[in-house]
Amino acid sequence: KINVILDCDTGIDDALAILLALRSEKINLVGICACAGNTVLKNAYINSKRMVKLLDREDIPVICGSRGPLVRSLELADEVHGSDGFGGIGESFDQKYGFDLAKAEAEYEKALIEDDVVEFVKDTVEKYEDVVLVTIGPMTNLAKTLKKYPESFAKLNRIVSMGGSYKRGGNVTEHAEFNYWVDPDAADYVYKNSPVKVEMVGLDVTHQILLTRERLETLKQLNPHLGGFIEEITDFYFGFYMEKNGIAGCVMHDPLTFAHIIDDDILSGEAICIGIDTSDEKRGNSFKEDGKENSLVFIDADEDRFFEVLNEAIRK
Ligand code: BDR
Ligand code: CA
Repeated sequence: KINVILDCDTGIDDALAILLALRSEKINLVGICACAGNTVLKNAYINSKRMVKLLDREDIPVICGSRGPLVRSLELADEVHGSDGFGGIGESFDQKYGFDLAKAEAEYEKALIEDDVVEFVKDTVEKYEDVVLVTIGPMTNLAKTLKKYPESFAKLNRIVSMGGSYKRGGNVTEHAEFNYWVDPDAADYVYKNSPVKVEMVGLDVTHQILLTRERLETLKQLNPHLGGFIEEITDFYFGFYMEKNGIAGCVMHDPLTFAHIIDDDILSGEAICIGIDTSDEKRGNSFKEDGKENSLVFIDADEDRFFEVLNEAIRK
């Protein structure tokens, strides 16, 4: 199995990424590091807890990370993920699946004081040999870890990042993608200083993977319980993509990182040098520049293959 630390700002597609990771026989998820982004840290933490409860994997630690970007103020994505970051189904989820919100809130307060994501990553890299770091939110936690423990960071086997856009254009501004736009200083720091190449799963490829109503039906047939959950949590997401983008489906940004780890024939791309713009005008833009190849940027995605992986993971 592949040991993975997941760093996430648990909104809707992050939740689906957790679901895919926990259902895959190839992945050993050793910890979930929460960070603010789509939603505030507390929601990212609680939503991650909801997912480990749903998948009956409460043994997996959820660690509290950054409450906001390195230097800028936090900008949320409520219109994409709902004010609870869980597509507005948090309350009904808790009732339906017996999630104890009061307990999770108390745990969050404790975790805020005790947790240190940077130490967790360092210890995990020392404990396991090959660790893949998957990052599907702003790179704040990563930048902090790389700054404090560059030698431990260098021991990571791979870094797979959902973020950025190479040729397609952005989803927050004309060119910037949300995760890199929220904390461009963190992304810039990681791309400039990481001794491990960043595999960039950006909008170029995530927009090639659409969960349509038809594909959702297949998931429900394969597994009514989990398919039913996916239907509930994506309802808001379907609405957002239709109203704001005219797209009849949900873009599977974050789950694509895990599908790529599970089946490395889904994505193809090229090794280049990626820079991240930290100016106010072009905040968060990811662009090709001259320099050492610090990234493997993906350009093409095989949508059918992605759904084969997802269907297989969901199958009862
Ligand atoms: C990214 O931003 C968030 O809204 C999603 O969870 C994904 O990580 C897409 O730009
Ligand atoms: Ca995310």
